[in-house]
Amino acid sequence: MSITIKSEKEITLMREAGKILAEVHRLLEKEVVPGVSTWEIDRKAAEFIRGFGCKASFLGYNGYPASICISVNDVVIHGIPSKDRILKEGDIVSLDAGVIYKGYQSDAARTVPCGKISAEAERLIRVTRESFYEGLKYARGGNHLYEISGAVEDHVVAAGYSVVREFVGHGIGREMHEDPQIPHYHMKRRGIKLIPGMTICVEPMVNAGRCDINCLDDGWTIVTQDHSLSAHYENTILITEGEPELLSI
Ligand code: MF3
Ligand code: CO
Repeated sequence: MSITIKSEKEITLMREAGKILAEVHRLLEKEVVPGVSTWEIDRKAAEFIRGFGCKASFLGYNGYPASICISVNDVVIHGIPSKDRILKEGDIVSLDAGVIYKGYQSDAARTVPCGKISAEAERLIRVTRESFYEGLKYARGGNHLYEISGAVEDHVVAAGYSVVREFVGHGIGREMHEDPQIPHYHMKRRGIKLIPGMTICVEPMVNAGRCDINCLDDGWTIVTQDHSLSAHYENTILITEGEPELLSI
């Protein structure tokens, strides 16, 4: 899959998809409360996404069995919703969701607190979101892709945390995963030149401890090797001549 430059008409649809996904996230965040199972949150997600006339892009993607990914505490990404995973006060919960609207995709993730969480967990969530915004400063036409990557890592490392390296951001459009791949760490080269009309997802996955991860036997669930907490923050971004446009907010 190569890099696609979207026309005005396509951008209009990507904006629609993004606005809907932002609303889905606002609704889902309210569902993160002690005592609820991640399966129940996934049911809500399916209902909300359908209610907006969209498809859940994750469902069936490479055989993925649910509508969204829900990753709790030391689960980095790709947590499979389950009736057995009951949220409790103090958990941090990463909600990763994607929608398809009239053939166009949007993809976004947020880590939200379940009830009252520790100051350290709050800081991890904040630094992860901030690292996205540090990268975003470089997401403009004429800049080079890996300027984004380096800025994300610098912010994370300065806070004493680590960036997951095995999973990266990506282009997005008619497909959820298009070129280019977007690492969240420094690269030796400067990467491709960004062009207005590109749509990309930047999605730092940040561990409170070491960057090493494991995949569980279910073939999906990614956890931190040292069982430290992990947070995730992602938006779909439109590259323009000037300020980038956040489509999924
Ligand atoms: N949101 C993820 C990404 O950005 C995709 C989830 S994988 C799936 O790449 F299988 F659940 F779809
Ligand atoms: Co993504």
